[in-house]
Amino acid sequence: MRIVPTGQTLGARVEDLDLSRPLEADDFLALEQALGRYGVLSYPDQHLQSRQLRDFAARFGRLEINVANAYQEPGLPEVMILSNKKDSQGKPVGLSDAGQDWHTDMSYSRMIAFSNILYGIEIPMRDGQPLGNTEFCNMHAAYEALPEALRQELDGMTVTHDFAKFWDMMRQRNGTRPPLTEAQRQAKPPVSHPLFLTHPITGRKVLYANPGYAMRINELPEAKSQQILDFLFEHQLQPRFRHVHRWQPYDVLMWDNIGTIHNAVPDYRPDEPRFIKRCQVMADRYFANGTA
Ligand code: OGA
Ligand code: MN
Repeated sequence: MRIVPTGQTLGARVEDLDLSRPLEADDFLALEQALGRYGVLSYPDQHLQSRQLRDFAARFGRLEINVANAYQEPGLPEVMILSNKKDSQGKPVGLSDAGQDWHTDMSYSRMIAFSNILYGIEIPMRDGQPLGNTEFCNMHAAYEALPEALRQELDGMTVTHDFAKFWDMMRQRNGTRPPLTEAQRQAKPPVSHPLFLTHPITGRKVLYANPGYAMRINELPEAKSQQILDFLFEHQLQPRFRHVHRWQPYDVLMWDNIGTIHNAVPDYRPDEPRFIKRCQVMADRYFANGTA
């Protein structure tokens, strides 16, 4: 196995590793370190059964089983389908609009997500170029680039994250999502996490806030909280912190949800099929007692 950094702010390519085989213990440790350090790992040209994707992902921690109970691989609820395709009856075969704005997976959950692992089986292409890129920003670098006085002022503060924020934003944008019911809102109540989180692999602080779910800096008055959040959202998206993954069919892409934020670019049409299998790894191994 070889880990080849992109040389950009994030990203490394893992070569000569066949993910369909059980992972050796030393390779696992090297990948875990690389994920903390490079934030995004791509594994080109993988040929996996869903079960093999699941087994690889499960090495990194407990897998989330989506409560919506939709778009799961039959018999393998840990594997979810992201796709714009429809079956012969016109029914969607997968979640068609996952992650289409800047966010961190599951920051709205008491137990946050550690890593998301996607297996790109069909990638839309136009004029020989891939569409549907996944973009990332480096939250180690974003933290380190904050003015020292602001880092000190905000140190120890916490942020409320709410699942409904992203949902309602998507509803306003394209109107295809139904409103969340009161029961759904109650099932995912807002939660708090530190604004600056110590990354469990690197031991360095990251900016743990994202435009998709972060609502409020709890220790500040509302107006001041909004002003600082607006500043942080603009700060963290600067081009110097950005990395783009341009998909090739059969890539496995794995990212660190603690040290990065990401965005799925919806620049392909319904007749340009995208079909991806996904496993979400939770962070229990690192935050047994929560993030606070
Ligand atoms: C996700 C997500 C990005 C993509 O599944 O959480 O953000 O490019 N996906 O599909
Ligand atoms: Mn996501």
